Amino acid sequence: MPEINVTEHLLLNQKKSPMARGQFTHLVNQLILSFKIISREVSKAGLVDILGFTGEINVQGEQVKKLDEYANNVLIHRMSRAGVICAMSSEENDGIIEIPEGFPRGDYTLVFDPLDGSSNIEANINIGTIFSVYRRTTPAEQEAGLEDILQPGVEQVAAGYCIYGSSTMLVMSTGAGVHGFTLDPSVGEFLLSHPDIKIPEKGSTYSINEGYTHYWDAATREVVDYFKDPNNDSRKPYSSRYIGSLVADFHRTLLYGGIFLYPADMRDPSKPKGKLRLMSEANPLAYIVEQAWGLATDGTHRILDIQPKHLHQRVPLIIGSPFEVQKVRDIYRKHGY
Ligand code: AHG
Ligand code: MN
Ligand code: MN
Repeated sequence: MPEINVTEHLLLNQKKSPMARGQFTHLVNQLILSFKIISREVSKAGLVDILGFTGEINVQGEQVKKLDEYANNVLIHRMSRAGVICAMSSEENDGIIEIPEGFPRGDYTLVFDPLDGSSNIEANINIGTIFSVYRRTTPAEQEAGLEDILQPGVEQVAAGYCIYGSSTMLVMSTGAGVHGFTLDPSVGEFLLSHPDIKIPEKGSTYSINEGYTHYWDAATREVVDYFKDPNNDSRKPYSSRYIGSLVADFHRTLLYGGIFLYPADMRDPSKPKGKLRLMSEANPLAYIVEQAWGLATDGTHRILDIQPKHLHQRVPLIIGSPFEVQKVRDIYRKHGY
């Protein structure tokens, strides 16, 4: 099959996803350039002094890794000057990121986790960038603000992630299915490698950090017991897989099927809804999984229906194959959720 790059694919899909007009295609191309720059730095992270900590603490209360900061700076610099964005939000930044004076604003807003899984960088485990694109809701002549960003995930016009691993792969959707593009370093292009990804209806793995078992409620403990039970519907236990890098755990779940869970836990009273962020992690992956015929819930509500209240709102995330997600929802419902 002739090699198809992302731009050609967007144009091919134009009739199905009207987003592939000039501004939007330029937005995607600037994102792609950002991913290539980050990928180059990630691939040589062990060789240059870009590992380790910057010494700062971010808005999440987490130690900032040099690669986190590097990826964040690349995205902010490149996307704020692309002329297609009117406001942005990064997991690493407290408030909205303004567009610098003198640069044109565009019709879109962008939310991103510049580097997900950063605790795994030194161990050479897959990490990634997660992104969401929305259309602005306020009139163009007005200064963009929080309301242009705090939209339910169902309003996304595109979302995806770039995973930096044995190969660098962009997985994205513009509302016409999910497609994977693998970076061919010899030509510097992301080429279509996984057209029309669909998650298996049922899987055989579950992915959760069992170290927090004593902090889960009864419903979550029953869910995990179900997946371990030799007498469950599959008549055999599920395999446990947990990398601790959301992008990697999700990517495996998307391709092989099964379920990923980061439930609410009582570990940290300041984070009763668990650790993952609605805007920069749950929404983009929920958009992808639904476009691939999977499901994503917080245990009670469809992730994409949740109306965000603030930029860094956390949410329990249960995402994956329809069979397993539905099973979890049934158990939660039995517990009165
Ligand atoms: P980030 O590196 O963007 O802060 O995200 C880390 C997240 C996510 O990648 C992963 O699923 C989760 O942290 C793992 O958390 P635990 O170590 O608590 O399991
Ligand atoms: Mn993350
Ligand atoms: Mn991150």
